[in-house]
Amino acid sequence: MAKDRGHFATKFGILMATVGSAVGLGNIWRFPYQVGEGGGSVFIIFYLIAVFFIGIPAMVGEFIIGRHSHANAVDSFKKIAPGTKWHGIGYLGVLTGFIIDCYYCVVTGWTLYYLFLSASGGLLGNTVEGYSELFTNFAGGTFMPIVFLFMVIAITGIIVSFGIKDGIEKTSKIMMPLLFVTLVVLAVHSLFLPATQEGLDFLFLPEISSLNFDTLLSAIGQAFYSLSLGMACLITYSSYFTDDVNLSKTAARISIIDLMVALLASVIIFPAVFSFGMEPEQGPGLVFKVLPSVFSQMSFGYLWSVMFYVLLFLAALTSFISITEVVVAYISESFKITRKKAVIITCSIFSVIGAITSLSFGPLKDFTIAGMNIFGCFDYLSTNILLPVGGILTSLFVGWRLDRKIIEEQLALSPSKKFIFNLYIFSFRYVIPIAVGAVLIASLLT
Ligand code: TRP
Repeated sequence: MAKDRGHFATKFGILMATVGSAVGLGNIWRFPYQVGEGGGSVFIIFYLIAVFFIGIPAMVGEFIIGRHSHANAVDSFKKIAPGTKWHGIGYLGVLTGFIIDCYYCVVTGWTLYYLFLSASGGLLGNTVEGYSELFTNFAGGTFMPIVFLFMVIAITGIIVSFGIKDGIEKTSKIMMPLLFVTLVVLAVHSLFLPATQEGLDFLFLPEISSLNFDTLLSAIGQAFYSLSLGMACLITYSSYFTDDVNLSKTAARISIIDLMVALLASVIIFPAVFSFGMEPEQGPGLVFKVLPSVFSQMSFGYLWSVMFYVLLFLAALTSFISITEVVVAYISESFKITRKKAVIITCSIFSVIGAITSLSFGPLKDFTIAGMNIFGCFDYLSTNILLPVGGILTSLFVGWRLDRKIIEEQLALSPSKKFIFNLYIFSFRYVIPIAVGAVLIASLLT
């Protein structure tokens, strides 16, 4: 069974692929702003607490299910709890992955376009308004964003069709180190800009007024999203893990690397933004409108802009690949078709829905559901509702339903570490469901 599904070949490959999933737009355009808004180091401390007490155990929970069952999102639950309805969590995961992918491919397409634009020199020498117009015209267009979205889907499709070892693992082992090098070079450069101190102050100075429950909830939500939790993504990846991998250590390493990337991305962005008299923004505005203007004023701006968009593109692509794998693994194994066929089916559907989503910035911008365009709707539904629901259910499943022997076996703790085992169980049963439940309720109320 496990043999012909494929698996990762090396521990380094496992780490790079899983970090590739975790490190994404969440680190580069969501985290920095949240830190700035959430009172600098106040948010960072809450975020550390969220990663340590909720993120890492939740990740280990997904790893236990995946590696024990060696099966896709849906079958893993069916194997562990046959004849029950628990595999609904798997369906929910595949659906969530589907929805996230339909908007994630749009943004990944934008990052690829900006990479081309910066490499061709076309991103320099514009005015602040010019950059804003450039982005609005591009994203609101009918043709170009869809061309780039198709390119992203095609690249992803090709990588995923090569399978785990020859596709995802091989490319992650090249792309992630490249991403780290780019990140470090850019961060070091940022420390020598005129307003470095101001940028770092915005990021790190504690704003005591942010010391409240809302900031804590945003930190938990951010940790969940950034660590790719709640939609069986890590269940799917860990189903290809080899048995010699220590799950707790791997989860800790991934979380630390993910955190470092988020912090370095913030160190890259804020000193640069302040040095050139711009205001920090969140999301697309920041990376596609503000930063181009910042780069164009820097010396060697060409170099820095190309590096930044390489970074952004690789981060987005490897995350997009991981979500796609959830859907592809499920379709190919459930309908008993080859991986290639499953990729073609999945990517065709993404292309159509992705294209429609992309149009929500142009011709379809007046089409709204509950006041949000299609893109906003997919984002809200998946991030604010489906992911927390998936996370809560997965954690309850591991804590209350999963045989303790399976957990013990997967954690491979020595008998002297009974305390850590109990701590995990306590997190699965109470801490994660309550904390993530609070995030869900808060986002439903606002
Ligand atoms: N973690 C990625 C980011 O930070 C996004 C992502 C990939 C994700 N796979 C996921 C989010 C699964 C939630 C669930 O951008």
